[in-house]
Amino acid sequence: MNARTQFLGVLAVVAMAGASAQAQISTSRHNFSTYGWSRGEICLPCHTPHNSNVDIGFLWNHALTNATYQMFEGGTGTAELNIDSRSRMCLGCHDGTVALDSFGGMTGTNFIGPGGNIGTDLRNDHPIGSDSVYPDAGRTGSLNPSAPGPYGTRTVGTGTQKVGLRPWNDNGTVKYTVGCTTCHTVHNAGNYGHMLRFSNASSALCLTCHIK
Ligand code: HEC
Ligand code: HEC
Ligand code: HEC
Ligand code: HEC
Repeated sequence: MNARTQFLGVLAVVAMAGASAQAQISTSRHNFSTYGWSRGEICLPCHTPHNSNVDIGFLWNHALTNATYQMFEGGTGTAELNIDSRSRMCLGCHDGTVALDSFGGMTGTNFIGPGGNIGTDLRNDHPIGSDSVYPDAGRTGSLNPSAPGPYGTRTVGTGTQKVGLRPWNDNGTVKYTVGCTTCHTVHNAGNYGHMLRFSNASSALCLTCHIK
């Protein structure tokens, strides 16, 4: 292969990588287009170009949850008061109380299956919201201090990876907490297993925050 064909080969690989980067949600479990209730679309169950929910933003189209949760530390809470707003969007499908096809003002009948249903008892899930304020003053020895701004960063391989802490409004005071999108990306950006923000090989995700 001469230098020119080699160069074209590299270009082709880059172009292919670019194409798949454009289509990460389509290969994920958030591509609902094969389900009858989705009307054959990917984005529609979550977003709409018109008549969206302006309170939550992001042109949101899905019904939100009104569930009461048992929080990690055992107290009760709601998504609206105790958990950041993006996790609230996730829980509108993932706590199992609101149907997947409750979008666009419709009340649906198809609920998430056991594989995706984390339920309303959050005692058995990694703490989020009011039970995961970060950094925790009482835990300075076991949690990495967060980098400037609402992120913890960690060098993994050649790159700096970020976990996104989520702002949460504690009676008028903004605090930064762990939320679903701290660890996951909803559009499967990066295409890592379980739609994680980056690979959890060697528990790199967990070690971003925990000194262990
Ligand atoms: C399962 C629900 C879900 C689906 C399906 C979904 N999104 Fe999103 N989207 C979200 C959530 C939640 C946010 C809030 C920001 C975040 O967490 O990334 C968001 C944010 C966005 C944003 C603003 C922030 C950004 O990342 O640029 C855009 C644009 C967007 N989505 C476009 C799309 C498009 C286009 C599709 C269909 C190909 C789609 N989304 C499918 C849940 C979804
Ligand atoms: C419109 C409903 C809906 C919303 C909103 C939604 N999801 Fe999902 N999600 C699903 C369904 C359905 C599945 C597939 C579950 C199954 O396979 O049983 C799923 C699967 C997942 C999975 C498993 C992926 C895997 O490969 O193991 C993760 C992680 C996930 N969702 C995270 C999120 C997060 C984080 C948010 C919010 C930012 C979110 N979801 C918002 C419906 C939703
Ligand atoms: C501290 C990081 C972290 C947070 C916060 C987090 N997850 Fe996860 N989640 C993970 C990891 C890691 C996995 C993969 C677990 C494994 O390897 O089996 C996972 C797996 C999942 C799965 C797939 C379950 C399965 O058995 O495959 C779903 C669905 C999910 N998460 C939804 C959520 C939702 C919804 C939230 C917010 C309420 C959330 N996650 C918050 C780290 C997190
Ligand atoms: C963004 C930072 C962050 C990431 C990433 C993270 N955690 Fe946490 N974790 C916290 C915070 C904050 C708490 C709340 C309790 C505290 O202050 O220690 C917590 C609590 C815990 C606890 C419970 C401690 C107790 O008091 O019972 C365990 C166990 C844990 N995390 C394990 C994990 C594992 C495993 C992962 C990877 C899948 C992970 N964490 C990822 C920040 C993080």
